[in-house]
Amino acid sequence: MKRILVTGGLGFIGSHTVVELQNEGFEVVIIDDLSNTTISVLDSITEITGKKPEYHNIDLRVKKDVVQFFEHNKVDGVIHFAAFKAVGESVQNPLDYYENNIGSLVYILQEMRDRKLDNFIFSSSCTVYGQADELPITENAPVKKAESPYGNSKQIGEEIIQESCKAHQLNAIALRYFNPIGAHESIKIGELPLGVPQNLIPFVTQTAAGIRKELSVFGDDYPTVDGTAVRDYIHVVDLAKAHIAALQRLLHKNNKQNFEFFNVGTGTGSSVLEVIKAFEKASGKSLNYKIVGRREGDITAAYADTTIANRELNWKTEKNLDEALASAWKWQQQQ
Ligand code: UD1
Repeated sequence: MKRILVTGGLGFIGSHTVVELQNEGFEVVIIDDLSNTTISVLDSITEITGKKPEYHNIDLRVKKDVVQFFEHNKVDGVIHFAAFKAVGESVQNPLDYYENNIGSLVYILQEMRDRKLDNFIFSSSCTVYGQADELPITENAPVKKAESPYGNSKQIGEEIIQESCKAHQLNAIALRYFNPIGAHESIKIGELPLGVPQNLIPFVTQTAAGIRKELSVFGDDYPTVDGTAVRDYIHVVDLAKAHIAALQRLLHKNNKQNFEFFNVGTGTGSSVLEVIKAFEKASGKSLNYKIVGRREGDITAAYADTTIANRELNWKTEKNLDEALASAWKWQQQQ
């Protein structure tokens, strides 16, 4: 049985990935410092899979704790989710973002190098493309100067991994996520935004639930189908399964290069107004919203060309926007 370390394994994408890993027969060890989640997620994972994953509360910024973990734990692969992810906050606190998102990454890679461990999967983001010149976005689209320290930490992270792969015979895959949404069908795990949600879907579901008064739609003067910005919303379970596919590729040595990166999206773009319509249909509730000005740093449109990921990872999405929104709404109602 292969043993896989999942950092940030109690977070939104991490917890769904742990469930899929356990369902596929992997032994999972989680590191999470609970900075953006709660320990009850561990019980929820146990309820869903019937198996309690090993768990360590470790702050990966503390090098000696990272060293100590690897001294006592041999793993066959690492899926590294643990990171800060709020774009606006990263502009306010760039150094904290670099310390956490880069520091932790370096410490883990150093341990993998020193202990000859292999198979590293990195949470990257479509934000590395900025506003791409061509849509849909292929992996050949150039990486553009990041708009925020958060985005930059993903770009630098990919570079650090690429250079480490070259120097230390490490094999790694970066998955460039589009917009992950939704919740597990059991409705036992989902997104747990702390405070006022910054992302569209949790704001939509909280508005429908009456927690927020109204949703602000940021801009209706974009050159898109209805003037609102377009994104590629992917069900988090489909995204989780992409990690299993990437891990299998590394474990079976099917990778073509030491360092590879893939776009993980659905291939379909949806505007904010289209999302609102789909949500109203899925939930049977009408949503209170108003159009306001554009949000700084937002791009017009981003959706993935999934051809390469579908072929190379032997993976494709199984759920559509309606299913993802319905699960997000069920999750919200259950909170
Ligand atoms: C953002 C980040 C991305 C990050 C992701 C996850 C940018 C440019 N991108 O994606 O790097 O990985 O969050 O944290 O910041 N919207 C509204 N009203 C709202 C909230 C959002 O109209 O209250 C709109 C936005 O303008 C956007 C779309 O909904 O057009 C999606 O927004 P959001 O969920 O925040 O994701 P991104 O901005 O695409």
